[in-house]
Amino acid sequence: MSNKMWGGRFAGGPDAIMEEINASIDFDRRLAEQDIAGSSAHVAMLEKTGIVSAADAAAIREALGRIRGEIERGEFSFSRALEDIHMNVESRLSELIGPPAGRLHTARSRNDQVAVDFRLYVRAAIDGLDAEIKALQLALAEKALLHAGAVMPGFTHMQPAQPITFGHHLLAYVEMLARDRGRFKDARARLNECPLGAAALAGTSFPIDRTATAEALGFDRPTANSLDSVSDRDFVVETLAAAALCAVHLSRLAEEIVLWASPQFGFVRLSDRFSTGSSIMPQKRNPDAAELVRAKSGRIVGALTSLLIVLKGLPLAYSKDLQEDKEGTFDALETLSLCLAAMTGMIGDLEPDVGRMRAAAGAAYATATDLADWLVRELDLPFREAHHVTGRIVAHAADKGVGLEELSLAEMQAIEPRLGKAVFSVLGVENSVASRKSYGGTAPANVTAAAEKWLAALKGA
Ligand code: ARG
Repeated sequence: MSNKMWGGRFAGGPDAIMEEINASIDFDRRLAEQDIAGSSAHVAMLEKTGIVSAADAAAIREALGRIRGEIERGEFSFSRALEDIHMNVESRLSELIGPPAGRLHTARSRNDQVAVDFRLYVRAAIDGLDAEIKALQLALAEKALLHAGAVMPGFTHMQPAQPITFGHHLLAYVEMLARDRGRFKDARARLNECPLGAAALAGTSFPIDRTATAEALGFDRPTANSLDSVSDRDFVVETLAAAALCAVHLSRLAEEIVLWASPQFGFVRLSDRFSTGSSIMPQKRNPDAAELVRAKSGRIVGALTSLLIVLKGLPLAYSKDLQEDKEGTFDALETLSLCLAAMTGMIGDLEPDVGRMRAAAGAAYATATDLADWLVRELDLPFREAHHVTGRIVAHAADKGVGLEELSLAEMQAIEPRLGKAVFSVLGVENSVASRKSYGGTAPANVTAAAEKWLAALKGA
């Protein structure tokens, strides 16, 4: 049997494989809510402009409401033969009210319909993600305030570099997430134009009011070019790009949690709620949630790459290739949401082992830069020379297997005779971090102020 929505010029129905490759209902049923919202706005406009009678418009509106209820209650039966969400809804409409249902598709095409549905979906997803990223920022900033003065080693090249504070480290992620929110916000602003009324590709001969449908659906304005309207998926690319970078940020934090929670580091303890055991090794506490957040960034980056490749070289206007924009996007945005929730839970529960972090910061000569800076400040040595002198002192301490502060003054003076005992004041890690008062530096006073500022901003807005 030929398709009941478009089968007029067909004698036979599609091959089973054709239906298999063509139907999108298995995934685009998730656009049901948006599809009905778009249709409701469209029919209201058709009525207002006199294109459809008030009686038909009322019947359509009422039936759309019933269909929404059926879908919400899981009573709607989706059909593959009807290809996609748009035709499934329209077919049910005609079952419910007969011929007036056929008037809904006046001055519209599935091409602008799917474009508007997907914009509505992505816009709602962005709003949800913004709230979730903010929740993670809050968890990080709260933990940072609590541990603004907890000293830990800061790393470069994964080698202990200089002492920093745990709060400072956490606030670095608050900054990254703020940029992520900014990127989503930018994407949302450009997304917020309404393609409905572009019809198949060329616009329509009916006297429609595109501004009315744009407003009814919360868009800032209608899109300006009908060809661009049905072929543009930039809003998805931008959103996935923001999602990919956010996921990459989460993967970096996840990796640090994995390292910190290992017994070799022992910097943090993950809660039972976010750890798993081993089926064979009873002693294990595995950071599976963090590992999965680290890994799931792959599929989010993958969704961005796939969509870019779908779009590359695609001529105007609509091609069925564009149906491949959805599955990866649904998956990527949901995955990011799950990762954010898991990370927020992990951070909230995270218990730093302040003693171990401090001990690690004290080891490995992390205050060597402080010693070099002291030589510059107090003895007026050029920094390069101070660096060299400090290197020799570190080498001596390393030979003896002791920390810098455990060397005697005489031992240090053997290398640089002008050194005085005041130098010991900069060899401790607390003094080191407290001295890093430059703007954006790790001094606990800075970290407290920055955490408080973030908390006020996050709670205020
Ligand atoms: N399911 C289609 C999609 O997701 C809807 C648009 C179909 N348009 C068409 N002319 N066949 O892109």
